[in-house]
Amino acid sequence: MTYEYILIQTEQKVGLVQFNRPRALNALNREMVSETVAALESFDRDPGVGCMVITGSERAFAAGADIKQMAQATPVDMLDNPFIDYWDRLRRLNKPVIAAVSGFCLGGGCELAMACDMIIASESAQFGQPEINLGVIPGAGGTQRLTRAVGKALAMEMVLNDRRLSADEAARFGLVNRVVPTESYLAEAMKFAAQIAARAPVAIRLAKEAINAVYEMPLQAGLAYERRLFYMLFATEDQKEGMDAFVNKRPANWQGK
Ligand code: CAA
Repeated sequence: MTYEYILIQTEQKVGLVQFNRPRALNALNREMVSETVAALESFDRDPGVGCMVITGSERAFAAGADIKQMAQATPVDMLDNPFIDYWDRLRRLNKPVIAAVSGFCLGGGCELAMACDMIIASESAQFGQPEINLGVIPGAGGTQRLTRAVGKALAMEMVLNDRRLSADEAARFGLVNRVVPTESYLAEAMKFAAQIAARAPVAIRLAKEAINAVYEMPLQAGLAYERRLFYMLFATEDQKEGMDAFVNKRPANWQGK
């Protein structure tokens, strides 16, 4: 499949999607988001891929949803527009997705990064939900995911008063996993993703599912769910292989079975 707004490649079992609308600071138009989700779903189905990375450019991960595309929209246009539904499809991906973020990560860009499983930020990344300046509020999960990540007090400031977070602040408040030098942010994210892609695939998938279940379930149900997934892994060849490798002091050879 060929894409107009994104570039894709696979390296060391990592599927990479790179936004390619530099002149609009990777503003997320419908087409780019649709292509991104299609590419990620295709990586998710590909047994040669174990982990995925989404990135933009050094100057901008994404400066938000495309304001020009929605400026004249009516509520019914917005209702009929699958734009925000794409975020739900991201949530259904089985393999981990890492956002490699540099520069502007605003509005829908920040919401997209937060919909990923982990975020690696360059020193020059800037996170914010500036929709209030446009007379609207975040509409792709910003009020919900940001509040869960950084807490109510800071989320209120960010959404109500356009408070931006530097990369270091984002790390301090738990929004990002780590901050790395701007020159090497993508290489660092790819290295990190390759480490995850080299691990036991079924266990990685179920680990992601169990952690994300925290946001959907009360504690008792979450603990029971985790336990079932844990027991289920004893039906995999990888569990036998991993434990045998430990006992016999050799590296494990994962099959994803
Ligand atoms: N949508 C459409 N175009 C955008 C854009 C966006 N979100 N962000 C930037 N661009 C375009 C600009 O219009 C400009 O294009 P032209 O050269 O054709 O005029 C180009 O990208 C470069 O932008 P600037 O000249 O503004 O660059 P700057 O360095 O002066 O400023 C910026 C950078 C601070 C990020 C500024 O562009 C900006 O504030 N952008 C908008 C950020 C924003 O409000 N995002 C939220 C969008 S709404 C949303 O995301 C809703 C949701 O929850 C789903």
